[in-house]
Amino acid sequence: MKVPLLDLEAQYKSIKKEIDETVLRVIGSQKFILSEEVKALEDEVAAYSGTKYASGVASGTDALILSLVALGIGRADEVITTPFTFMATAEAISIVGARPVFVDVDPETYNIDVNKVEEYLKNHNAKVHGPSSMGHGQQGKVKAIIPVHLYGQCADMTRILDIAGEYGLKVIEDTAQAIGATYRGKKAGSLGDSGCLSFFPSKNLGGFGDGGMVISDNKDLIDHVKSLRVHGSKTQYIHEELGYNSRLDSLQAAVLRVKLRYLDKWLEARRSVAAKYDSAFKGLPIRTPKVAPGNVHTYHQYTIAVKDREGLKDFLEANGIGARVYYPVPLYSQKCYASCGYDKKDYPVSEKLSDEIISLPVYPELSGEAIAYVIEKVTEFIKKGA
Ligand SMILES: Cc1ncc(COP(=O)(O)O)c(C=O)c1O
Repeated sequence: MKVPLLDLEAQYKSIKKEIDETVLRVIGSQKFILSEEVKALEDEVAAYSGTKYASGVASGTDALILSLVALGIGRADEVITTPFTFMATAEAISIVGARPVFVDVDPETYNIDVNKVEEYLKNHNAKVHGPSSMGHGQQGKVKAIIPVHLYGQCADMTRILDIAGEYGLKVIEDTAQAIGATYRGKKAGSLGDSGCLSFFPSKNLGGFGDGGMVISDNKDLIDHVKSLRVHGSKTQYIHEELGYNSRLDSLQAAVLRVKLRYLDKWLEARRSVAAKYDSAFKGLPIRTPKVAPGNVHTYHQYTIAVKDREGLKDFLEANGIGARVYYPVPLYSQKCYASCGYDKKDYPVSEKLSDEIISLPVYPELSGEAIAYVIEKVTEFIKKGA
């Protein structure tokens, strides 16, 4: 039996008629850039996520970059984030000229460790009110925190927002993997100054190409992002600042509008697959995903941790099961940051995780038979080594 890590063909087949009609309608209109489709998707995603405003952009990476620029973060600034994420999170910080400050992750959820965030700030920034260890008038270089809602589960937003408030920092939620997740009843991406969504095809809400969105309750911020995405222009051919070409295509928006109608059903299906894995792996030496109190997980990835990760990966692949490591190299160890002075000894949790984690197929269309096969093969391998 073959069980791929993700089966986008199965998803397409399940909604083919609606998608095909929609794509043909956009082709018929010959309106491909921004347009009413994009506007409608922005309204629908904002309503879904519980924010007032949204701006479609060309990718999740651009959503982060444009958020940073719109919040005034750039050269000489620092942004605290997690090293246990996809490169785009830190890359966006570096691209705008700021320095990513990596702090280690929580060993339970693998999301940013809020105690480490606080520790760094205590030593480097001044609080908005109260005594300061900094020189007179100095605030410190950290201007923002980017928590990543890894694998589809929100970071500890209460603590993050409290800390940000104390130090006067912006919070940009990297929600690329977590559309639809909730934290204490609120949707991922709606809690900070902005939320950055990715519509990369493999995401929980994936387009037929690249796409992304910034969501926020702050109208000025979203208006600024809308200007930045068209070369820093609010009025055609009048440029107030340098911007980007980061527009969302109408075809992507139209496809995403169809898919958004199914998103909650698909997330429920992901949770049901995850629950089956959770109960099957109980009692085995496998670390299953931990859901923190107040969180509703969306299982963009179902990621386990095992001692012999490479052995399990090879065994699953040999048995026709797709499995992948997100992420094998923490960002402080990436070659592009080699000259930046990060020391892997500061990140024991990320180091261990990058050796032990592996993601299993968890997409909504997985059949009962496929789930049972994955469980059978994972269990077989683990029991052999036990
Ligand atoms: C955590 C995280 N941040 C940012 C991104 C960037 O999104 P995109 O690929 O749409 O640029 C991704 C996805 O690839 C991601 O997983």
